[in-house]
Amino acid sequence: MMKVNFPKDFVWGVASSSYQIEGGVNKDGRGSTIWDDFCAMPGVIADGSDGAVACDHYHRYRGDFALMQSMGIKHYRFSLAWSRLYPDGDGELNQAGLTFYTRLLDALDEYGIEPMVTLYHWDLPSALQARGGWANRETAYAFARYAKAVFAFFGHRVRRFITHNEPWCTAYLGHGIGIHAPGIRDHAQMLDVAHHLMLSHGLAVQAYRAAGFAGEIGITLNLNQVYPETERAEDILAAERIGVFHNGWFLDPILKGSYSGLFGEVFGKMPAAIQEGDLEVIAQPIDFLGINYYSYSVVAHDENSAHAKTRNVTPHDRVTDMDWPILGQGLRDLLIDLHQTYGKVPLYITENGCAQIDRLEGDRVHDILRINYLSEHFVALSDALLQGVPLLGYYAWTFMDNFEWGYGYTKTFGLVYVDWATQTRIPKDSAFWYAELLRSFDH
Ligand code: NOJ
Repeated sequence: MMKVNFPKDFVWGVASSSYQIEGGVNKDGRGSTIWDDFCAMPGVIADGSDGAVACDHYHRYRGDFALMQSMGIKHYRFSLAWSRLYPDGDGELNQAGLTFYTRLLDALDEYGIEPMVTLYHWDLPSALQARGGWANRETAYAFARYAKAVFAFFGHRVRRFITHNEPWCTAYLGHGIGIHAPGIRDHAQMLDVAHHLMLSHGLAVQAYRAAGFAGEIGITLNLNQVYPETERAEDILAAERIGVFHNGWFLDPILKGSYSGLFGEVFGKMPAAIQEGDLEVIAQPIDFLGINYYSYSVVAHDENSAHAKTRNVTPHDRVTDMDWPILGQGLRDLLIDLHQTYGKVPLYITENGCAQIDRLEGDRVHDILRINYLSEHFVALSDALLQGVPLLGYYAWTFMDNFEWGYGYTKTFGLVYVDWATQTRIPKDSAFWYAELLRSFDH
């Protein structure tokens, strides 16, 4: 077993999201979302699939929680499908959606699993997209109303809320390069979308505070550790620019209340959507920052590159099945840098994990790459803790194989293998390994 050191009350869990696992897209009044619409467009999903059935978690959540319990998992991060509660995003509540999530939370209680609830993991109700989606400032207010309602329903029983998951992906992948829903390619719109997502986050935090709950609220960002290729000043500056693109874009407004001084240089212009007072709303104090960490970059200055005058020179000798370069130390360095740059905000790793080609041999999946990936990252966490980083917990991505967005079902991150034909769940070696690790921390 690796040499690691974690506090007794460190939170260990697993993560998922609604559209990736639930299925049941036409069940009980759920409204259509931008991911239902996006998947219906020809050629956008690698295997032509969608999340219509996914892991059928909508009908199988009890079995899934029983399996989590058998693995010793006591913490579970998942997201609510906004359109199950409000089919049109705003207006009438769908009672059946409320009943579904109430029962799901009841089941978690029964299995002794503590929820961490994400309000938005990319499945925007289609009706809001029809009115401009996140490019329309009104969507931020609709989100705040939805958030306020969720707090009223569940604020007394859910202790940890996340407003948004990876708004960078919604902005850049969804509106910059168009490989995620809603599939738009418009640079100016992308900047406005990012701004409105952050505004909606701040409004939701305000609503949570106004309701006076004792729990915690934060946001989850996908952060990438960026290194300069050399110590030359121009490479260091290149790394700073790419750092703004990957991390500072969201970190600076949320934790510092301002856009980075390099923003204009990196993105060519400031978001047109900024209004007086927005940054104060965006920078509401949060109880924690959620970090999704998968990979790192090494960059060099390149006068001729259109991408912020930088060239990506990241080594590709160790990569996951996503072709994402692996570096556990990157997570340690990221945590230490964050702590130094942004101060004392408590941190959770809300996602981290590895896609690999998983083969079922008999009833086992020997996913050694995943185990190595996780253990390398756990050493990094332990190092960061020793250096005084206020890290409170870790949620592995992901509990079971699921719908991996543009990759459909071709990439698997689960600790648990899903046989799609029968929906059988088969714990991989990494699931047994993780369970054993959690057991060893218990005493
Ligand atoms: C981040 C996203 O939040 C999650 O939905 C996705 O499946 C994983 N990364 C892996 O790509």
